[in-house]
Amino acid sequence: MLGIIGGTGLTQLANLEITHRQVARTPYGEPSGALTFGRICGQEVIFLARHGYGHTIPPHNVNYRANLWALKDHGVDRVVSVATVGAIHPGLLPGMLVIPSQIIDYTHGREATYFVGGDKPVVHLDFTLPYCEAMRAALLEAAASAGITLRDGGVYGVTQGPRLETAAEINRMERDGVDMVGMTGMPEAYLARELELCYAAVGAVVNQAAGRGRSAEGIQMGEVQAMLGEVMLQVRRLIEQLVTDDATAQSKA
Ligand code: HPA
Repeated sequence: MLGIIGGTGLTQLANLEITHRQVARTPYGEPSGALTFGRICGQEVIFLARHGYGHTIPPHNVNYRANLWALKDHGVDRVVSVATVGAIHPGLLPGMLVIPSQIIDYTHGREATYFVGGDKPVVHLDFTLPYCEAMRAALLEAAASAGITLRDGGVYGVTQGPRLETAAEINRMERDGVDMVGMTGMPEAYLARELELCYAAVGAVVNQAAGRGRSAEGIQMGEVQAMLGEVMLQVRRLIEQLVTDDATAQSKA
């Protein structure tokens, strides 16, 4: 089953026919909110708002372990994770959607593994390609059939937040090879790998990063808000198409 993690601007899915909500408990504590069970185009999915349904949990306090554990525990094996990002690459502009292919993790102090010692042996998993290629391909195909422009690939730099970056930090990130900056991509992607979930992210560009283009003198939060609504409409269409494609593939199988 498909699990959808919604980020800022996506605390609910308009096209989701909700069947029920369920509070989940995990060995790692409580997820960001109750799991929302429902159907999109007749296909069962589970939705979870990463920052809580009232958007009250900042990126560094999200219980990423509980979120992914709860999804898996309820039958999810594929995850689409939606995250707003700021654009560093000059080819990325507000309003665009992008499927990142790589990650640089600048976060610290987050619970970043399920293997916490004790009697469990430490496990080092391969993370050369941090996203599930099958899920990335499915998203790209869905975008093509829905006529949505989606950029394929790019490096997602994950900062600690909740503050935005300085212009100098963005310059450094660009030298590192970062194309887009957000606050929630890690440890989510790695925890998904540990749980063997097929996981990919959709980056929704809502601003140019600090010191760049329209944000040369500062990021205009009003513009970010306006862009959020617009870009999330595209995300909803993309997810609907992804689920429709799934349903078609299953009916042919
Ligand atoms: N920086 C970090 N996270 C973000 C940004 C940004 O510019 N825009 C959206 N999420």
